[in-house]
Amino acid sequence: MNEIMLLIGAYLLGSVPTGLLLARSMGINIRECGSGNIGATNVYRTAGKKLGIMTLLGDCLKGLVPVLAAKALGLPPVWIAGIGLAAFLGHVYTVFLGFKGGKGVATALGVLLGTAPLAVLFGILVFAAVLYKWRYVSLASISAAAVIPVLAWATCTPREVIVMAFVIAVIVILKHHENIARLRAGTENKFKA
Ligand code: G3P
Repeated sequence: MNEIMLLIGAYLLGSVPTGLLLARSMGINIRECGSGNIGATNVYRTAGKKLGIMTLLGDCLKGLVPVLAAKALGLPPVWIAGIGLAAFLGHVYTVFLGFKGGKGVATALGVLLGTAPLAVLFGILVFAAVLYKWRYVSLASISAAAVIPVLAWATCTPREVIVMAFVIAVIVILKHHENIARLRAGTENKFKA
């Protein structure tokens, strides 16, 4: 019973559109500005550094808190992975926005920090290196998402978490299809600090 409650709670928590709410507090409709995404990068781009960082933290916590709660309850890896995936899916397919949410990067970061911290550490290094070299957050996100399942496998993470990381990676990459088209066309937004 605890497991099911936590699964539903994780999905609902993940569904809270942090970036949209923070941008709205400044009178900005985030879905009509910049890339139109509700994530931290677009909030940073259109509403400023402070709200961008707050969105990153908020979206990250939406993933981290449910998996830490699952761990504190002593649930087995299959439930921890399922609850993490539910939080991630909540952000990407949020019930509060007609199932059209964000790209899931920050929420995935939170989920994976709680379940595969060593893999995430290396993933953050990949993200930072790609961002430093090419200045595209989208390319950095895609690269980190792609390598984390491999890194999770290499760092002896439970099998269920590796599967979860793989599913997350596939969805993150698919959700970046517009970014990929812009990268190919040479029209993607470069990150400006
Ligand atoms: O986390 C999303 C990021 O990778 C790209 O965001 O707004 O440039 O589409 P955006």
